[in-house]
Amino acid sequence: MKFFVDTADTKAIRELNELGMVDGVTTNPSLIAKSGRDIREVTKEICEMIPGPVSAETVALDAEGMVAEGRELAKIADNIAIKVPLTWDGLKACKVLSGEGRMVNVTLCFSANQALLAAKAGATFISPFIGRLDDINLDGMQLIADIRQIYDNYGFQTQILAASIRSANHMSEAAKIGADVATAPPNVIKAMASHPLTDKGLEGFLKDWAATGQKIL
Ligand code: E4P
Repeated sequence: MKFFVDTADTKAIRELNELGMVDGVTTNPSLIAKSGRDIREVTKEICEMIPGPVSAETVALDAEGMVAEGRELAKIADNIAIKVPLTWDGLKACKVLSGEGRMVNVTLCFSANQALLAAKAGATFISPFIGRLDDINLDGMQLIADIRQIYDNYGFQTQILAASIRSANHMSEAAKIGADVATAPPNVIKAMASHPLTDKGLEGFLKDWAATGQKIL
């Protein structure tokens, strides 16, 4: 499973990238707002750092506007994936932009039917939002499984990009189901390394080591 980082915080992206943990980046209008930076400037910096796909989202509501914004965002770098919402107009824009050979990430997906339409429209990535479904007591992970089954039934090449990931468990569950990509905030990726038994075990080893009075260096 590829790891994308869901942030526009370049310092956090750099830190994870130094460990080889970053295959791509996703941003959205809220994350750009949170960064406090200009969309072109921050997205360009991310694209220069990460060779993989970097999603930048359109904000127009009509297909024509999304296509125009998508083409503009694509000028930032060759590795831009244009993000459009899963509306009827978003699907139209996806069809046009993917037909031009551009990477398109169809976002705000909350049902298997929406994912089916995105694949038919030529999406490079479909972004089902796990956490936001869980927030309203629906099963976000089941949606990933349903889309996996449907895409595999028909050999759709659209990559399942598990999004709105809120916990380390979401990462392993998405990987077990076979999501192609998971995008997560930096703190979730770091949390994957934590286990209380690791901490406890380390504490015990260090205590016993101290009692020997030895030194390695
Ligand atoms: C995905 O591309 C979105 O940017 C993101 O995963 C949304 O996550 P949230 O529901 O935690 O805001």
